[in-house]
Amino acid sequence: MALAAADGVSIHPNYLTGEAQAALLADIEAVIAAAPFFRPTMPRTGAPFSVEMTNCGPLGWVADKNGYRYQAHHPETGAPWPAMPERLRALWRDLGAPAEPEACLVNRYPEGAKMGLHQDRDEETFDAPVVSVSLGDTAVFRMGGTTRRAPTRSVRLASGDVVVFGGPSRLIYHGIDRILTGSSRLVPEGGRINLTLRRVTPLPAA
Ligand code: SIN
Ligand code: FE2
Repeated sequence: MALAAADGVSIHPNYLTGEAQAALLADIEAVIAAAPFFRPTMPRTGAPFSVEMTNCGPLGWVADKNGYRYQAHHPETGAPWPAMPERLRALWRDLGAPAEPEACLVNRYPEGAKMGLHQDRDEETFDAPVVSVSLGDTAVFRMGGTTRRAPTRSVRLASGDVVVFGGPSRLIYHGIDRILTGSSRLVPEGGRINLTLRRVTPLPAA
């Protein structure tokens, strides 16, 4: 059952069964084989992220000295991103998100990785929600309001959990405080994989 965490935020614990998690991980392993992980860097400081990233779908999110942006090709291989697996498109549809998802960012969190509090705001539209799927080790996810100063709270996201934030919560600040290493056996090399599905360009006219 979905838990309403705030207006526009819903958390779906155990949305994916163990079997569905394994099938989705196999899809993502094929994505990673075609589009290897790269290490993004902060535009101003050049500091590397503690997570590695790759993408699938028509557009992918990248971060380097030229800024944060979406682009159609891998920053290192130059190849177009692999297609979005049907399983992810079905999940997006099932959660009621409009039109087709255009980007799936794959974040890999090894032991000790985290992600600072930020908004997802590099998209041209905020009319579709962000749909975020957790696989592997449990994460301590922090979420706040639409201003950096709003109070925050943390929730644990386990393998198979899905978070949707849209509507008035589309621009909430969120991040990952830490990973509970060894809490899942799904990912053979350990750690956590997060899949973030987004719409990037304006929705087609109804
Ligand atoms: C992100 O905000 O890009 C990732 C969130 C997560 O790993 O759950
Ligand atoms: Fe984010």
